[in-house]
Amino acid sequence: MTVADQYNVTEDEIRFGRSDEERLYQALFDYWHPVAYSSQLGEDKPISATLLDEQIVLVRLDGEVRAFRDLCVHRGTALSLGWVEDESLRCAYHGWKYGPDGMCTEIPSRFGTRIPKRARLTRYAAAEAAGLIWVCMSGEPRFPLPEFPYRDDPGFKVIEVPSYDWNCSMPRRIENYVDFAHFAWVHDGVLGDRDQPEVPDHGIGRVGHELRFDHPHMAEPADSGKNKGLESDGRPVDVQIDYRLFMPNTILLDQSIPELDQRYLLFFTVCPTGRKTSRCFTFMGRDYSLDHETDRDMLDFNALVIGQDLPIVQSQRPEELPMDLSAEVQIKGSDRVAVEYRRWLKELAYST
Ligand code: FES
Ligand SMILES: [Fe+2]
Repeated sequence: MTVADQYNVTEDEIRFGRSDEERLYQALFDYWHPVAYSSQLGEDKPISATLLDEQIVLVRLDGEVRAFRDLCVHRGTALSLGWVEDESLRCAYHGWKYGPDGMCTEIPSRFGTRIPKRARLTRYAAAEAAGLIWVCMSGEPRFPLPEFPYRDDPGFKVIEVPSYDWNCSMPRRIENYVDFAHFAWVHDGVLGDRDQPEVPDHGIGRVGHELRFDHPHMAEPADSGKNKGLESDGRPVDVQIDYRLFMPNTILLDQSIPELDQRYLLFFTVCPTGRKTSRCFTFMGRDYSLDHETDRDMLDFNALVIGQDLPIVQSQRPEELPMDLSAEVQIKGSDRVAVEYRRWLKELAYST
């Protein structure tokens, strides 16, 4: 047995060492990741999704979401081409049937009923929460699922933003979402103001599995798509924003407007489909102007903001977020959230 086999690493890793980014990618197998909206998965048909470079199939069997490797063990066909029958998943190629635990229960082409022991699917932990389907590839998630307060509150309206794919790593996408210094530049007149580019001081700390921080006293234009429905008479609104970053991939932005007693929420979560690719899921919630027209304004506003971010984030190199703080230049105060996020990611990378 070689040293590489003994320690389950490659020869290159022994010669050059494994980078922080490679370690983090490996560590991500131990966490929940969003893979689809619950609304995308019906009762009769499975769907496919990609997580950490693996194609998986999602299916509802016996009233629960199940996740398997999207590959029939007979001839490697994608099971997502199949269908649900008798609370089982039927493969489209030769009709093998798999039960909710992934065991094959029927091989139609053979005489008799004997099923080889190896005829079973690779199964992953799956859960449904906050309007999303979550999967953990290792089966033993280290952190609990993120929380989405107010989601089921009848006075609250929550809308689903179509998911979108970006060519950037999950941590780069998450960091961009909580980067306060870019609002004045990338989102001038929309989320920030180039004449007031300084980032106000903000507290940050760890609470359980979350990074919590705030971004107080920002005056936002009342006529921006996001704030149109507010009862503010067109005056700029003073907003208080609290963030909860559920490590490593989910953000809850909770914006309250104390003056108007109104609340706006963003629940944003990113699936690492690969090392340098991401799928982003967003819910927008509010407890004011619950009409359809405001829904449309909010979706348009979101599309405008992400359209401004897209070329910036996809241009960042290296594509993977460097966790070594000396690799990029950090500014005390304004880059505080990013620094804390990178520090924690590095801990996760080395805690497996
Ligand atoms: S490939 Fe699935 S049943 Fe043959
Ligand atoms: Fe942005």
